[in-house]
Amino acid sequence: MTVLVTGGAGYIGSHVVRLLEERGDGVVVVDDLSNGVLARIGAHPLERIDLSAADAEDALTDVLLRHDVDSVIHFAAKKQVGESVEHPVWYYRQNVSGLANLLAAMQRTEVGALVFSSSAAVYGMPDVPMVHEDIECRPINPYGQTKLIGEWMIDNAIRATGLRAAKLRYFNVAGAGWDDLADTAVMNLIPIVLDRLAAGKAPIVFGDDYPTPDGTCIRDYVHVKDLAEAHIAALDYLAMGEPAETVFNVGTGQGASVNEVIVAIAESTGQAVVPEMGDRRAGDPPQLVADVSRIAAELSWKAEYGLDEIVRSAVRARG
Ligand SMILES: NC(=O)c1ccc[n+]([C@@H]2O[C@H](COP(=O)([O-])OP(=O)(O)OC[C@H]3O[C@@H](n4cnc5c(N)ncnc54)[C@H](O)[C@@H]3O)[C@@H](O)[C@H]2O)c1
Repeated sequence: MTVLVTGGAGYIGSHVVRLLEERGDGVVVVDDLSNGVLARIGAHPLERIDLSAADAEDALTDVLLRHDVDSVIHFAAKKQVGESVEHPVWYYRQNVSGLANLLAAMQRTEVGALVFSSSAAVYGMPDVPMVHEDIECRPINPYGQTKLIGEWMIDNAIRATGLRAAKLRYFNVAGAGWDDLADTAVMNLIPIVLDRLAAGKAPIVFGDDYPTPDGTCIRDYVHVKDLAEAHIAALDYLAMGEPAETVFNVGTGQGASVNEVIVAIAESTGQAVVPEMGDRRAGDPPQLVADVSRIAAELSWKAEYGLDEIVRSAVRARG
């Protein structure tokens, strides 16, 4: 089987490339290297294409045919909430047009299976303790909107063309499955704290007066290697025929507060960490934890790693 991995030179995509390699699947990567690292994909072929470019549909059609691709895992996208608020049109062009070009090329070449990187950002500010896939999606920024529109586009393609697809809504992805595949973007809590500590600065906690046991925000941290395994489970699920469900939360079902993450980092680095307290940030719900019953039932997938291993692996991979 040959799998096209868009965004395979990125943080999460490169973990999936490695797992596909381990089980002997063929891999071809499409990436424009706007945020990717070539060394992460090893000897696998790279097709350097900007998915949002005017000629991307033709270029992707050529790649799908030339490499005899059976299925696609689509990671390539821009992922920064703040940037999406500043440059919304560019985000729509990158994330929505990029996916439209991919779906058109898949339709032309009759490649019938797609796993899509969605995000818990589609939920917005849910007021339930555990987020189930069927609650109403109300994204509060252009990034989350581009992911929800992507899901709708895929749903329509399922109805119109018989595409088999799984949309995976990731919660807070962190850690490293291999030391050379660290998250190099300093945008999520664990890399941000490690970066501040390396610079000799105290991490800042944005709000300690939330209605949570220790007052800091609670999130569901999922190890990137577990998340990568969920993509393999989704591919296998799609290979079995028409899927019963098409959208899945990917998390652990367990929440950890910002303070708990900071304690885990202090233990793992052996450094005393005294955070500074800052104001709340707009758009941060107090708690965002995945209900993971559907993915367990349908894909037989469950996260293996907990917060300690996530933090340990992130610290190790930073070197
Ligand atoms: N990292 C997270 O916490 C997180 C959470 C939820 C969802 N996601 C989604 O998962 C996916 C992968 O995230 P990541 O953390 O690995 O990000 P990443 O930036 O490390 O990887 C994205 C890859 O896509 C490539 N790319 C971006 N735009 C492209 C374009 N127009 N054409 C071709 N290639 C392009 C980049 O060069 C990069 O290699 C994204 O779709 C992201 O929105 C990530």
